[in-house]
Amino acid sequence: MGKIVAVHSYKGGTGKTLISLNLAVTLAKMGKKVCLMDLDFRAPSLSILLKIEKAQYWLNDYLNGSCEIDKVMIDLSLRIAEKDRFYVCPANPSIEAIRDITARDRKWEMRALGRLLFLRNALLKDRAFDYVVFDTSPGLQYSAINAIVAADIVLVATTLDSSDVEGTRMILHGLYDLFEKKAEIVLNKVTFLDSVRVGREKLQKMVKDVYSAPLLEAIPCFCEISKAEGKNIFVHEKPDHPFTKIMYEMATKIEKL
Ligand SMILES: Nc1ncnc2c1ncn2[C@@H]1O[C@H](COP(=O)(O)OP(=O)(O)OP(=O)(O)O)[C@@H](O)[C@H]1O
Ligand SMILES: [Mg+2]
Repeated sequence: MGKIVAVHSYKGGTGKTLISLNLAVTLAKMGKKVCLMDLDFRAPSLSILLKIEKAQYWLNDYLNGSCEIDKVMIDLSLRIAEKDRFYVCPANPSIEAIRDITARDRKWEMRALGRLLFLRNALLKDRAFDYVVFDTSPGLQYSAINAIVAADIVLVATTLDSSDVEGTRMILHGLYDLFEKKAEIVLNKVTFLDSVRVGREKLQKMVKDVYSAPLLEAIPCFCEISKAEGKNIFVHEKPDHPFTKIMYEMATKIEKL
């Protein structure tokens, strides 16, 4: 049976969307059948990044109980030159949809959690997906908590910014531990100098000391990523870039978790 991987963080802008999209594509390129889901309903990004203009149904509709998940899933396998490997469930980026979903009450969120948990059978068992990757909202919003509850593994994207450290420690113990989730740290936007100067082993020890959680990967801050302006799928466009190599290493480690 496959796995559900949620990419989460305490603060916004730590690289969740970049990591979840490129990790999902990397797994697909490794021959896995992958479905990437945009669970960041407060600021949906995947429809824009992947230039999905007119979807008939969105993930919002599935969670609302208005349609089944098959109606939301878009097969983008050909974009990455593979067959039947890469599917996406985008969230509705319209203002009405964002306002609608952020105004939902606890009862609705509980029902949405039930629908999310149902995906384990619907996608991993019945449709033989190897991975479902959740791109989430930062912090403790309901939709993010639901994503974590439904996931097998949580990748916690964090930076070395001191404002991020305390919050990340808090969610590691107050959220992932609470739900008994396996959490792995992804240190993002590490300056190249830091990663060379400190070295991998020291970085690993530092993460263990600070977070009491393992370091899955450290990703340097790459100007090429900023320059690309999110206009394409980085690992697909730049197969020889160090970021792409890091994504392959990360995917291989996730396979072994
Ligand atoms: N390692 C990196 N090197 C250079 N730029 C990066 C790196 N990681 C992320 N970025 C850039 O930082 C910005 C924020 O990244 P991203 O949108 O993935 O963060 P996020 O955690 O999903 O944000 P949000 O919480 O708002 O959803 C993007 O412009 C992205 O391209
Ligand atoms: Mg994001």
